[in-house]
Amino acid sequence: MAFLKSFLFSLFFLLLFSFSSADIRFTEIRSDDRPIIPFDEFGFTHNGRLELNVSKVSFSDSNPDYDFSKVGFFLCTRDSWLHVLQQLEDAEISCALHSDLVKHVLIFKALNGKGEYNTLYSQNDADQYTLVFANCLQQVKVSMNVRSAMYNLDGKSENRDYLSAGKTILPRVFYLFSLIYFVLAGIWIYVLYKKRLTVFRIHFFMLSVVILKALNLLCEAEDKSYIKRTGSAHGWDVLFYIFSFLKGITLFTLIVLIGTGWSFLKPYLQDKEKKVLMIVIPLQVVANIAQVVIDETGPYGQDWITWKQVFLLVDVVCCCAVLFPIVWSIKNLREAARTDGKAAVNLMKLTLFRQYYIVVICYIYFTRVVVYALETITSYKYLWTGVVAGELATLAFYMFTGFKFRPEAHNPYFVVDDEEEEAAAEALKLEDEFEL
Ligand SMILES: *[C@@H]1O[C@H](CO)[C@@H](O)[C@H](O)[C@H]1NC(C)=O
Repeated sequence: MAFLKSFLFSLFFLLLFSFSSADIRFTEIRSDDRPIIPFDEFGFTHNGRLELNVSKVSFSDSNPDYDFSKVGFFLCTRDSWLHVLQQLEDAEISCALHSDLVKHVLIFKALNGKGEYNTLYSQNDADQYTLVFANCLQQVKVSMNVRSAMYNLDGKSENRDYLSAGKTILPRVFYLFSLIYFVLAGIWIYVLYKKRLTVFRIHFFMLSVVILKALNLLCEAEDKSYIKRTGSAHGWDVLFYIFSFLKGITLFTLIVLIGTGWSFLKPYLQDKEKKVLMIVIPLQVVANIAQVVIDETGPYGQDWITWKQVFLLVDVVCCCAVLFPIVWSIKNLREAARTDGKAAVNLMKLTLFRQYYIVVICYIYFTRVVVYALETITSYKYLWTGVVAGELATLAFYMFTGFKFRPEAHNPYFVVDDEEEEAAAEALKLEDEFEL
C-alpha cells in the first residue's frame, strides 16, 4: 500500500509541474547538432497561419563564412517528406531546405546576425504539415528559444481555431458524450432507487464509474474548447488527467469485480483475485503517467516513443489481467453446475459470464486495435472518426454491463422451476459431450 501511495504522489506532482500548453508550443533548443528537428504537426485548412518566434539564437561557432541559407524552418507534408528523403539519398540536393517540395518559413540568412526573429506564415494549401528545423551545417550547434503557434482562421469573422483540421469538432463530440453519460447516471440512480431491495454494493460502484466517465468527458470537452479558442488549456488538462486517472482505475477495478462475481455471487475476494487488482491498479497509474507525458510532449518530444511503448505494454498487461477473474468464475460455475444439483441457476450465471467475457474482449479489441487502425488510415481531416468510434464502443460496453448486471426485483438466477432445472441439466450434459 505504501508503494501505491508513493505512486499517487508522484503522479500528483507530475500533474502539477510538468504540463505545458498544447497547441502553442515553446521549445528550448540547447547546443543541438541534430540536422533535422521536427517540432509539431498540424492540419491546416485553406486559411491557415503559422506564427513563429525565434529568440536567443546562437551558434557554437560563428564563422561569418558559413552559409546560413542552410539553416532554417520549413513546413512539409508526410508524403513530400518521403520524396525529400529520396532526393537527399540520390544526392540531387545536399540539404532538405534546398528541395522544392518544402515550404520555407524562416531561413537563418534573413536573421543577419540578429538573435531574434518573428514571422507570420500563411498556409493556404489545406493539408497536414509538420514544422521542421533543418541545420545542414556540419559541426555547428544551435541554441534558440522557439515559440510556434499554428491555427486556422474560421469563416468570415476569421476567428482563430487552434485545433487541427480533423479535431476541430472534438469539443462538441465530448460535450455530447458527457451529456449522455450524465443522463445514464440519472437513469441508474432511478433504477437503484426503484430496486433498492435487491441492490448490491457493486451497483453503487458502477454509478461512480459512470459519473467519473461523464466528468472526464466534460473536462476533456472544456480542455479542447479552451485550446480551440486560445491555444492553451488553462488548467483544464490537469482536471482532465485527474478524472482520466480515476476513471481508468475504477473501470478496470469494476471489470475485475464483476468478473469475480464480487457481491453478486460472493461477498469476498479470493487471494488470487486480490492479486489481480494489486497488479492492475499500479499499472493503471503507470499508464496514466505515460499518457500525460505522451500528450504533453507531442510526437516529436524526446522519449516520446519510449513512453508510448510503456503505455502500450502496460495497457496490454492490464487488459489481459482483467480477463483472468472472468475465466476463473466461468470455471467455478461450470464445476458448480455439475456438482451442486442446481444446474439451471448455475447455467444461467455461466451464460452471463461467458457473454461478459466476450464483450470485454470485444471492447478491449475495438478500443485498442480498431480505433488505432482508424486513426492511422483515415485522412487528417477525419481524425475525429477514430475518437467517435472509440467513444461509441465504450458507451455500448457501459450500457451492456449496466443492463446485464442491473439490480433485479425478481432475480432470474434464483427462481427456477423444476422443468427448467431438468432442461438445464440436459443442456449441461450435451455441453460436456461437446467439450470432450
Ligand atoms: C510572434 O510573431 C508574430 C508574427 O510576427 C507576432 O505577431 C507576435 O507578436 C510574436 N509573439 C511574440 C510573443 O513575440
